[in-house]
Amino acid sequence: MIIGKKRLKQEHLQELIKQIKQKKELKELSDEYIQDYLYKFFQQEIKLFNQIVDDFNPKSANYKRVLKEVRAKLRRVYGLFRVEDQATKRREIIELYFIQPENEQLIKDILATHSSTKERLPFYEQLYKKIFAITKIPKSIIDLGCGINPFSIQFMQLKELKYLAYDLSEEEIGFIKRYFSLLHQQDPSFNGEAHILDALRWTRLLELPIVDICFLFKMTDVLDQGKGHKKSEEIIKAIPAKYVVVSFPTLTMSGKKMNHPRKGWIELVCKRLNYKFRLLEFSNELFYVINKGVK
Ligand SMILES: C[S@@+](CC[C@H](N)C(=O)[O-])C[C@H]1O[C@@H](n2cnc3c(N)ncnc32)[C@H](O)[C@@H]1O
Repeated sequence: MIIGKKRLKQEHLQELIKQIKQKKELKELSDEYIQDYLYKFFQQEIKLFNQIVDDFNPKSANYKRVLKEVRAKLRRVYGLFRVEDQATKRREIIELYFIQPENEQLIKDILATHSSTKERLPFYEQLYKKIFAITKIPKSIIDLGCGINPFSIQFMQLKELKYLAYDLSEEEIGFIKRYFSLLHQQDPSFNGEAHILDALRWTRLLELPIVDICFLFKMTDVLDQGKGHKKSEEIIKAIPAKYVVVSFPTLTMSGKKMNHPRKGWIELVCKRLNYKFRLLEFSNELFYVINKGVK
């Protein structure tokens, strides 16, 4: 990593990343994402970067400061969604499911281990029906920042489907890959791929194949990180899909109803870019089905 006139050796960078990941709530993050984060961090902290390069010493105060500050920031943007108890439970249920794939209840149990997917359990079928009534039956879907949402594919009731799932979490992508190969065995007309991808590196999105629909469920707050909505806008623009479905929670973290759940900013973005949208409202989540006008 080079910043200014100094270069942090590759083996030192790797060691730093490894140490950052030693906290259990951060261990699923991809190395690439942490590296990008470190780069941004050191660009703001050039003096600290120079000191670390000159004296790479895991026992030094400078080194400890980097670990502490970078972990704290990563936790804020990423760790929020992971409750370790749930992650352990999820691992166990998923392993059980791979032993008993005929036990469909286990899929619901897996979805119940993440707050976003748990909240959708009562209306998943309705949700997909309503989305597809607007978009027409899709043959291809991208799920960006998918979490464990791909485990809800059975609720889509689609015959032939290409499903591309992307997230930062190595563990979840690993589970989804295994789930997709099982689905393919059960029905060869289903083809799924799951990869680590950082949506913030949005130019990479331009390289993906054009699909019918892209899901961007509960992602905009994660991507914007409280700094306006430029990132989300860039990403929505770059997504190679005919429709993008963007969702927002209507409950606060503590479970209270939000005063203004409608998101004015996304409606303005659609107006500016000349995208038409339809709004689907469920008890705890709003879905904007955005038609990008791609033929
Ligand atoms: C609130 S969860 C939503 C998960 C899923 N979309 C859903 O609604 O069920 C946010 C997800 O975004 C992923 N994530 C966070 N930052 C990301 C990024 N820059 N690129 C890709 N995925 C990201 C997290 O790993 C997490 O799975």
